[in-house]
Amino acid sequence: MESKEMGRVCVTGGTGFVGSWLIMRLLQHGYSVNMTIRSHPDIVDESSWSDVDFIKFAKPLLPCYSTCKTLTEKAAIEFAAKNRLHLVSVAASWIHGPFITPHCPFTVRIFLDMIFGNGEGVLEQQKYIPFVHVDDVVNAQIFLFAHTNANGRYICSSGETTIYELSKFLSARYPQYQIPIIESSMEGISGLKYPTLSVKKLLDTGFKFKYYGQLEEMYDGAIECCKIRGLL
Ligand SMILES: NC(=O)c1ccc[n+]([C@@H]2O[C@H](COP(=O)([O-])OP(=O)(O)OC[C@H]3O[C@@H](n4cnc5c(N)ncnc54)[C@H](OP(=O)(O)O)[C@@H]3O)[C@@H](O)[C@H]2O)c1
Repeated sequence: MESKEMGRVCVTGGTGFVGSWLIMRLLQHGYSVNMTIRSHPDIVDESSWSDVDFIKFAKPLLPCYSTCKTLTEKAAIEFAAKNRLHLVSVAASWIHGPFITPHCPFTVRIFLDMIFGNGEGVLEQQKYIPFVHVDDVVNAQIFLFAHTNANGRYICSSGETTIYELSKFLSARYPQYQIPIIESSMEGISGLKYPTLSVKKLLDTGFKFKYYGQLEEMYDGAIECCKIRGLL
């Protein structure tokens, strides 16, 4: 049933980790939701070719991802300015927590690498890990959507850890899993300088995080969802 009070919202990427959670929360807030779905071809035949230029370019996973995200956001801001659209963007750090998709989302899977017994996995490349709970991200999106004075970009992040701290935290909290203990310290890595993410702009709007710094909630939620789906 359409909510006349809250109106209708279009969510892209609604089959994904964040999008599906956002839809759930929007519906709970009384919004009606439309969602876009892309079609996946069932059959790939000999007429399909991989885009070699893209593969060459995409080899390093994270630089490619960061480049895409940066260019996309800049293009969206430029498009909005040219067309006099009011654009608000939420730049979330690494999103973690429970999920309602039938599969374990890629990003959660990476976070759970050590729980799944895959060593430190991709996180090892990351070393410094700013994180945020999925519920805080979608709550920030809904909050800013309804906030008349919201404008421009908002960083949404609720804590930071390192791969070393994470391995200690996980082995203490989940002794039933074989967590590798990573002994190095950040101080031992020369040349590394990580900026702290400021969420002042978001907090100044009156937004309140529900899970500020609560890595426990994020891991408990994600692990529980994996157990329910028989993945752990
Ligand atoms: N997860 C994080 O830690 C994190 C942090 C910061 C920002 N973000 C951003 O938040 C957004 C959602 O992330 P997520 O973790 O929810 O990702 P996800 O679980 O992989 O979901 C991605 C969604 O986007 C759709 N999609 C992907 N490529 C598309 C394309 N070319 N055309 C149309 N739809 C496409 C997917 O549809 P299909 O089901 O058809 O594949 C899916 O619904 C992304 O833009 C991501 O970069 C994520």
